[in-house]
Amino acid sequence: HAVKAPFHVINQAGNVPEMVWTSRPVTALKGVIRAPGDKSCSHRALIFGGLAEGRSRFTGLLEGEDVLRTGWAMEALGATVTQTGPGAWDVTGVGRKGLGQPENVLDFGNSGTGSRLLMGLVSGYAINVEMTGDASLRGRPMNRILKPLRLMGGLDTAGPDGTLPFAIVGTESLKGITYTPPIASAQVKSAVLLAGLNAAGTTIVEEARQTRDHTERMLRGFGVTVGTERIGAEGVRVSLEGGQGLTAIDAAIPGDPSSAAFLIAAGILSPAGDVMVEGVMSNPTRSGFYDVANLMGAHLGAEEMGDAAGERLINIHAGAAPLSGKAVPERLVPSMIDEFPILGVMAAFAEGETVVTGAEELRVKESDRIGAVVAMLRANGVEAEERPDGFAVQGCGGPPPGGGLVETRHDHRIAMSALVMGTAAQNPVSVDDISMIATSYPDFLTHMAELGADIVEV
Ligand code: S3P
Repeated sequence: HAVKAPFHVINQAGNVPEMVWTSRPVTALKGVIRAPGDKSCSHRALIFGGLAEGRSRFTGLLEGEDVLRTGWAMEALGATVTQTGPGAWDVTGVGRKGLGQPENVLDFGNSGTGSRLLMGLVSGYAINVEMTGDASLRGRPMNRILKPLRLMGGLDTAGPDGTLPFAIVGTESLKGITYTPPIASAQVKSAVLLAGLNAAGTTIVEEARQTRDHTERMLRGFGVTVGTERIGAEGVRVSLEGGQGLTAIDAAIPGDPSSAAFLIAAGILSPAGDVMVEGVMSNPTRSGFYDVANLMGAHLGAEEMGDAAGERLINIHAGAAPLSGKAVPERLVPSMIDEFPILGVMAAFAEGETVVTGAEELRVKESDRIGAVVAMLRANGVEAEERPDGFAVQGCGGPPPGGGLVETRHDHRIAMSALVMGTAAQNPVSVDDISMIATSYPDFLTHMAELGADIVEV
């Protein structure tokens, strides 16, 4: 159908871009969607499968660009990674022969997870691995990984400033350490544990507040002994002995709760919302968004669906619900670290103020998500303010004005959040780019269209 550019699609520099993607308000979002494969688990499936002895078979793998790049990197290191059908992948690992010297630079694109986990993994082999990424990844801090790897001994890297591109010069003489990451990061924990697989002695990571535990769970699935002990109310000590080999597995990848969050938010905000997302992983280290949505008044329904790859699966139902603003409990921050952009959108529709604190990590995600979320909301007539470690949103007590153009800053989750906002705001919401949505959720626009969203290029 013919579309006219509505309203004032002008970005902060005062330019009108040639093409924007616009999400126009619709009265109802309804339907049932199968959640796409979890991004964290998909990366780990390819990495662990590529390291294991034998052939692993995965179904439901997320075929997002970030994950595919991890697959290519594992191939460059000697594994064989083959797609056998939609979401179905066979991985033949290097096993006892170990990782081999790649011929070319490994380009991780937008992927913090792929690059950081592999930094840890390759550091325990006598190979020299050059790594790079896109402009966003090249701006992200890597010393958080390099520092513990240096403590394990002998790691040499090119480039002092801790940003890609650089080379990891690995060594077979790493020693296990006990490490307490100064920030809550599953990527740091995972990189240290993966280095520990090829280090002498025991490697221990102590987290003051537990982050997502997919590395620990999936390594156990591949036959590795990994210890987990609780420390205090929120912390955990994870340990493993070096020298353990992995054995190939067959596994179905559970659905991604972070991707599902966009559809669930759309169901809650839609005036006649009725959305079911099937096969979502239910793991307490990932469920903070759902807890906060319920605190805000969402009344989400959950139905048990068995399990996959050692994770519980549920179907989640969301219907239209009025929301009230809340202070997000800081203890939930690690378990919803990727969900703050969509939480910002929910806060805009809520009655009263929503405040996020203790989330300074958002500054170094795919974009500075504190700045990007606040700019997204303000561009759409919502009062919002940055804090050093979070943000505050004055809710509109119903649909916010909308009508803005959101600068996505190459951040997939900012783009998806803005498009969800447009489905239920008073006016359409536009974004300057959608291409990077494919890094984590290539079927997002198709799924939104199936629910009845009206998202068009204008
Ligand atoms: C991830 C860990 C988180 C998260 C990212 C995926 C992982 O990053 O934001 O999307 O798969 O381990 P941090 O470890 O930097 O918090």
